[in-house]
This record gives sequence, C-alpha cells and structure tokens, in this order.
Amino acid sequence: MSREQLTKIILPEEKLPKFWYNVQADMPTPLSPGLNPHSKQPLAPADLEPLFARELIMQEVSTERYIEIPREVREIYKKWRPSPLFRAHGLEKALDTSCHIYYKYEGVSPVGSHKLNSALPQVFYNKAQGIKRLTTETGAGQWGTALSLACKMYDIEAMVYMVKVSYYQKPYRRVAMEVYGAKCVPSPSPLTESGRKALAQNPDMPGTLGLAISEAVEDAAGREDTNYSLGSVLNHVCLHQSIIGQEARLQLEMADEYPDIVIGCCGGGSNFAGIAFPFIPDKLKGGQLRLIAVEPAACPTLTRGVFAYDYGDVAGFTPLLKMYTLGSSFSPPGIHAGGLRYHGESPLVSQLYHDGLIEAVAVYQNGVFQAAQLFARTEGIIPAPESSHAIRVTIDEALKAREQGVQRTIVFNLSGHGNLDLGAYDNFLAGITEDVDFPEEELQKSLSNLPQV
Ligand SMILES: Cc1ncc(COP(=O)(O)O)c(C=O)c1O
Repeated sequence: MSREQLTKIILPEEKLPKFWYNVQADMPTPLSPGLNPHSKQPLAPADLEPLFARELIMQEVSTERYIEIPREVREIYKKWRPSPLFRAHGLEKALDTSCHIYYKYEGVSPVGSHKLNSALPQVFYNKAQGIKRLTTETGAGQWGTALSLACKMYDIEAMVYMVKVSYYQKPYRRVAMEVYGAKCVPSPSPLTESGRKALAQNPDMPGTLGLAISEAVEDAAGREDTNYSLGSVLNHVCLHQSIIGQEARLQLEMADEYPDIVIGCCGGGSNFAGIAFPFIPDKLKGGQLRLIAVEPAACPTLTRGVFAYDYGDVAGFTPLLKMYTLGSSFSPPGIHAGGLRYHGESPLVSQLYHDGLIEAVAVYQNGVFQAAQLFARTEGIIPAPESSHAIRVTIDEALKAREQGVQRTIVFNLSGHGNLDLGAYDNFLAGITEDVDFPEEELQKSLSNLPQV
C-alpha cells in the first residue's frame, strides 16, 4: 500500500518499546537540582522517600539514556499499546492542505487518555515497596481516573483530590473514579489543613491544581502506609510518557515519513514530553524539525511565566523546582481544559524551552473549540479540551504552510478523548465560552511571591 493511502498505522505488540527514553541523558544543559523546601539546599533522595517509591526517585535523578520497562508493566501496557497513529485524511481535506497530518491517539487507553502510561508504573513500583494507599490531585479528572484504575489493578487504596471547579464541570469523571473503587473529593476540602485554610479565606474558591497537590501531599505525609503520586511535571512522569514518541517514530518510519513539526498540548508537560522528547536527539544533531508546546492563554506558563525556582503547590510542601512558573499563588481562570490549569511546568520541558530546543504558543478557548469541532466532524473523535489545544496549532501550521506554498508533515499528540467533557462542548455550542486572558497585574502580584532562593 502506498503511504498516501495509509490511514491507521498499527505497530504489532512485539514492537512495543522495552525501554523508556530518558532525555536527561542528552540535555545540553543539565537540570538544576530540586531544593529542599525548608533548608533550600539541593534535595537528597532521602528527602523524597516519605512521598515516593524508591525506584521512582532513582528514575527522577537518573541520567541513563534508556531505562527498562518492567516486563509486568509491558504486559499490561499491551491492553492499549502500541496506540495507533492515524493519518488525518478528513482534516487535511477540510483544510485543503497538501500537508500530511498525523495524530498519535492516546484516547484508546481504558481510561481515555495518556495518563495511564505513568499511573501504571507508578502504582507498580509503590506496590513492590509495600505501599497500601496512594493520594493524588487531579484537574479535569483524567489523571485521577487513571490512577484509580491502576490502584485497583494492584489492590491499593486511591484517594483523589479533584480541583473543585472541574469536580462540578465534569461530574462523570468522579463517577468513573468511584467505579474503579477510589475516593474522590473536591479540593479545597475540609479534610486537610491546607484545604481548611483555603476554605476559610474563600469558601467559594474554585480550587487549583497547586492547592489539590498540597492536600494530597499533606495527606500522604501524615500516614506511614501512604505515598503520593503526581500525574505530570516530574522527570519520572515524562520518562514514562516517552513510550508515545518512541512508538510514533517507528510508525512514521512504517509510513516512510519524518515530521517537520511535532505538537503537543502542555499542562505540566508530560504528554508533550512524551511525543516530543524522543525527537530531541535529532534536534541536537542539527535536525530542522520544530517541537511546539501549546498552552492556554488563560494559564500561559511558558509564554508569560519566568524561569525560576518555585514550589509545585500552593502551601509550599513540595520541593522547589527550577521551572517556568506563573507563581504558585496564581489562580488561573476556570477554563474547560482543567488539566492545563497549572502554574508551573515540567523542569525538563522548561530547561529545553529555555535552551531554545522547543517552542511554545498560547491559544484562546474559542479557537480551541472551533478546531476541536472541525476535528470531530472530519475525523470522528471528540477530543479532550486539553488535546484540542494541539489541534488548534496543527491547523494553524497547516494553513500557514498552504499560504507559503510549502508541504509539511505534522504530527500531534491526541492525548485523550473528550467523551466526558461534553459540558464544555455544550457551552461552546451555546456561544457562552469566553476567551480569557491572564491579567498582567495579577501575574506580577503572583510573581512577587516567588520564594527567595
Ligand atoms: C487529555 C489530557 N491531555 C493533557 C493533559 C495535560 O497534562 P500534561 O501536560 O501532563 O500532559 C491532561 C491533564 O489532565 C489531560 O487530561
């Protein structure tokens, strides 16, 4: 079959990568160390042990290029991996473009997003260490759902703090978590000191990922049998997601293609890292491809934030990480892409952005939903609002190429489906979705609270 005819490129199970790719081995500028939040001295692995499994801490600091995926994890990955790479023939036709557009579809996982790629190994390593209970935060609920399923697979209790605005916008995600046996509460909650403090200041506070992290960390730190699990940002999460880009590379080879542009939406950075990092070695060898991270204009961490040490949460419990940040006291507007409402950014994505190896673009909600609707109507899949940020920029790049009279091969990560995000689509169809910016004075106020290091 000629490459022009290929629609769905499927890797056989035996081609499932056996190793995760660790971009830390190839970074031109090594990461600045995480700092202990109290002493502000570089973190020792022991500082993280009250919260994370030892194996995950080792992965966090490893500079080995390839880290073996445990056989048991690989066997479970096979339930949905290798995920398909689709050629977007319908979208290409609608755009009247000569560009070749491909999307890696992570919505085929049982929970509907890429998040299970990391939830599964995180639970596996915690189980191996005898942990009985895991706490976590979730924005739109995709991560919480993934962790809930992974915990059920390993008979571990899951406790999920879900950002309040999303808890009410996306009630079925809570139901999904409960079906898998997890407990899910809206954050801020009265169950923790950080939640109670936030509620006392403002009982109607919509919640933020930073605050939900504080609650989950506080809960885990207070119990011997409990660890904490994070769905993005950290190096080990980006490592686990590298399976996406490694598979995509093999699938593009099968189609006799190589990308000019690779695009992913960016919240804490993990799905973007997943699709983009396995192409970093090519970039370092002088490859011309562009790697584009897309964020919401309402939470423009890379495009308007500063590269500085900051806490990962509101209460200041987490280590200080050198990352692009809008300030941990920043409370983003309650946009529908709840998974992109995070003040910080993966330190790996941040450093590579700082070094000019990746680009970033911020887009508005209405343009995102217009792109999502066109995609749904031409490709059939209703995309998650988060993933739709990548679709917006894919379309913009294809239209730009048409104007310039050039042909490009564009690959984007469709990180999840939006079948439980229909409330957001309902608002869009009713014409009440707002394009929200983040006001400069609020940004400056939030940045003025950055910790002194
Ligand atoms: C479908 C989907 N894509 C992307 C994201 C953003 O997270 P990350 O930047 O870690 O991929 C989320 C987060 O909840 C999500 O649910």
